[in-house]
Amino acid sequence: MEAPFLGLSLVLVLLAAGWGNGAGAAWATSPGGCRLVQSTATCNGRWLNSVPRNLQDEIEELFLDDNTIQVLGNASVLAYRKLRHLSLSKNRLELIEAGAFLGSQGLRVLSLADNLLFTNYSVTAAALSALPALRKLDLAGNHLTEDMVSVLLWNLSSLESLSVARNIIMRLDSSTFTNLTQLLELNLEKNYIFEIDQAFEGLQRLQRLNMAYNYIPCIAEFDLTQLRVLNVSNNAIEWFLALESDALFELEVLDLSHNQLLFFPVLPRQSKLHSLLLKDNEMSFYQHLANATSLANVTVQFLLIDGNSTNVTTVSLWDEICHSNLSSLRLLDMSQNQVWYLPEEFLAKMPSLTHLKLNQNCLEMFHLSEGEPLAMLTDLDLSQNHLSELRVDLPVGGVLPSLQLFNLSTNRLQVIPAGFFTYTRKITTIDLSHNRVDLCPQQTVAGKAENPPCVDIRGITTLTHLSLAGCGLQGLGSHPFQGTSLTHLDLSDNQEALTGGLGWLQDLTLTLQVLSLRNTSLSSTVVDIDFSGFQSLICLDLSGNSLTIFPAFLGILKLHTLDLRDNCLPALPQDVIWTPLGKSLHEVYLSRNPYNCCMLGWWDSLQQVERLHIRDGQEVTCSYASRTVSARALPEPILQGCQWKTADLALLYLVLALPTCLTLLVAFAIIFLTLKQKLLKMVKSRCGVSSPY
Ligand SMILES: *[C@@H]1O[C@H](CO)[C@@H](O)[C@H](O)[C@H]1NC(C)=O
Ligand SMILES: *[C@@H]1O[C@H](CO)[C@@H](O)[C@H](O)[C@H]1NC(C)=O
Ligand SMILES: *[C@@H]1O[C@H](CO)[C@@H](O)[C@H](O)[C@H]1NC(C)=O
Ligand SMILES: *[C@@H]1O[C@H](CO)[C@@H](O)[C@H](O)[C@H]1NC(C)=O
Ligand SMILES: *[C@@H]1O[C@H](CO)[C@@H](O)[C@H](O)[C@H]1NC(C)=O
Ligand SMILES: *[C@@H]1O[C@H](CO)[C@@H](O)[C@H](O)[C@H]1NC(C)=O
Ligand SMILES: *[C@@H]1O[C@H](CO)[C@@H](O)[C@H](O)[C@H]1NC(C)=O
Ligand SMILES: *[C@@H]1O[C@H](CO)[C@@H](O)[C@H](O)[C@H]1NC(C)=O
Ligand SMILES: *[C@@H]1O[C@H](CO)[C@@H](O)[C@H](O)[C@H]1NC(C)=O
Ligand SMILES: *[C@@H]1O[C@H](CO)[C@@H](O)[C@H](O)[C@H]1NC(C)=O
Ligand SMILES: *[C@@H]1O[C@H](CO)[C@@H](O)[C@H](O)[C@H]1NC(C)=O
Ligand SMILES: *[C@@H]1O[C@H](CO)[C@@H](O)[C@H](O)[C@H]1NC(C)=O
Repeated sequence: MEAPFLGLSLVLVLLAAGWGNGAGAAWATSPGGCRLVQSTATCNGRWLNSVPRNLQDEIEELFLDDNTIQVLGNASVLAYRKLRHLSLSKNRLELIEAGAFLGSQGLRVLSLADNLLFTNYSVTAAALSALPALRKLDLAGNHLTEDMVSVLLWNLSSLESLSVARNIIMRLDSSTFTNLTQLLELNLEKNYIFEIDQAFEGLQRLQRLNMAYNYIPCIAEFDLTQLRVLNVSNNAIEWFLALESDALFELEVLDLSHNQLLFFPVLPRQSKLHSLLLKDNEMSFYQHLANATSLANVTVQFLLIDGNSTNVTTVSLWDEICHSNLSSLRLLDMSQNQVWYLPEEFLAKMPSLTHLKLNQNCLEMFHLSEGEPLAMLTDLDLSQNHLSELRVDLPVGGVLPSLQLFNLSTNRLQVIPAGFFTYTRKITTIDLSHNRVDLCPQQTVAGKAENPPCVDIRGITTLTHLSLAGCGLQGLGSHPFQGTSLTHLDLSDNQEALTGGLGWLQDLTLTLQVLSLRNTSLSSTVVDIDFSGFQSLICLDLSGNSLTIFPAFLGILKLHTLDLRDNCLPALPQDVIWTPLGKSLHEVYLSRNPYNCCMLGWWDSLQQVERLHIRDGQEVTCSYASRTVSARALPEPILQGCQWKTADLALLYLVLALPTCLTLLVAFAIIFLTLKQKLLKMVKSRCGVSSPY
């Protein structure tokens, strides 16, 4: 049994060796091993351990990523005097000899990421210092400490972009980046930085600074006025304090997400900030605490020690927000914090806001006052809070006139104030899922004086997407969607919504395209499920119900997507692919139904349809004699069993019937014979003649 395998693997080895030799030979004779396009040579991932020497002298770009080069020698790239861009990422580079770049005075971009340059960094530093035109350098992933970095960068005053991400830098001070006066962009991501001491003072042109994924505990006296983007996400920052000054900061994007901020950051008073990202911190506002008055004037003092001098900064954390001009802010992300209310006038400070994310906080009430029209706001996410109330002081012009997406999912809302949507003339999407809402109008319940509260979405003409999943909908009256033109409606996880039939969806027959009825207690006995009127419907989710037969109305719909998972269907109709449905369907989900293994004709024909993707085809199973098997690969015994059951059934009956018939025949004969004797006896006795037999 082993011999053929051995033979096979030998052949494979020989083949591989032959291939290797061939490739090597091709490489030696022609530089075609590298792909040459105009003045760019690409030699990535070719197991090279040195720079190929026989490329065109004229090349300007040389890519040698993903090879095994260990040393870049003095003569390595000497021939390529026009080189402007050299990339040696992902090699095993330990050393660049001091004279390696003496002939490459025009080199502008050098990528040395993911090598081992820590090994002999001082020699490498000497090599780099011979590059007067270098603009962009990537030293990411080289196990470099801050001292090594400062040596490597010592003479690189022409640099505009530098990455030292993924190294082992722990401290930054004024010696780390001296001379980098032209630097615009600096990436320090994924190091171990926990202390920064005047490290950026010489970097007068720096615009983008990325220090994400470090261990910075706080940022005090932030004073980089020329910086445009500061990314300090994923650190351990508890405080962010900008310098108290009226200088105009160029700051546009500040990413403080995934830190441990306890207070809203103290931002520069004047800045161009348009994106403020504070996601996943521990922020809250504290003025409304029980002891508010005693806290009103509380300030925090920061002691800043620098060498001999000590400065004290006093910050009043409660009204600090008022000192910053946030008139240019467009995106504010405060999701995943501990916010339970917003201070008065908080949003009034941000007239340009277009996106406000307050999801995953502990808000109990959301109040829009007259001074906070949020005229530009298009996206408002209040999902996953404890909201039981929305309150608006309706001014003449209306609130939220630009709102397009309103996410209220997973709250405790029962009502939305009447007239709330009167002024939202652009709203397209409302997510009310997982609240305890009902829609107006409600069925009048006899004996109840007033109806329970409800949400009125009638007449919101722009509304196209609505989610009411898990709202406990019940007792829907007629025409709750009147005047809307919904295309997407999610009614999933509503157990009682459909008990009275589908009449209340009647206003949507022309527009509805995507409908989810997942987990809505639909069963084949609910008489009134008939979607034949919904001719625009292209996507229907009926999963998680208890359908026992394939609903007949489906056949005439021209759906693209149909989800039938988690039902009780024993089979689909044989002719399903010939119906309008079968001709339009592109995507179908079928798993978790108790299909009968002997009635899979429909399954075979569905699989033949080329355009149709059975997304969960791997998981479709069928049952046969209390066994569950994959419908894709029916075992032979089951196939035979089914044949036996179906095709030869007639024969079976015949075979079964034959002995029975014979038995019956014999029985009749015996009975007949015995009866005959008895009859004879009876005749004789009646006639009174006794004669012995
Ligand atoms: C490489 O060149 C540098 C500077 O020209 C020289 O100091 C060094 O000795 C050379 N190294 C080798 C291995 O030739
Ligand atoms: C660094 O390079 C120099 C000169 O090439 C060599 O003498 C020395 O041994 C190297 N050091 C290490 C740690 O590789
Ligand atoms: C920096 O350049 C100067 C001359 O321009 C040279 O003397 C010095 O050795 C260089 N420093 C490093 C670390 O290469
Ligand atoms: C780099 O900075 C040091 C000290 O600040 C200075 O002596 C040296 O000349 C500078 N080198 C260049 C190339 O600017
Ligand atoms: C900040 O850096 C992290 C990590 O690289 C990144 O995911 C995030 O998008 C960056 N933030 C911004 C605003 O670019
Ligand atoms: C709030 O006031 C009570 C008594 O009035 C006091 O015991 C408590 O320490 C105060 N809490 C704070 C945070 O000031
Ligand atoms: C807070 O400070 C204001 C003046 O800054 C003062 O009028 C007020 O009495 C102070 N309140 C408390 C509770 O100390
Ligand atoms: C302390 O304040 C003085 C004067 O405002 C300023 O010159 C100095 O740089 C500050 N020191 C620190 C450590 O902030
Ligand atoms: C601290 O101050 C003393 C005298 O005031 C001075 O001699 C010393 O150099 C200073 N130390 C530092 C680190 O500035
Ligand atoms: C805020 O800054 C804008 C310009 O960015 C300016 O027009 C406006 O007057 C400033 N507001 C305040 C209160 O300083
Ligand atoms: C609303 O937010 C929830 C979770 O916070 C999210 O799952 C859902 O996709 C959002 N809805 C819309 C329409 O974006
Ligand atoms: C079906 O919906 C009900 C609430 O309407 C929910 O409790 C249940 O978890 C849902 N079932 C599934 C399987 O999602």
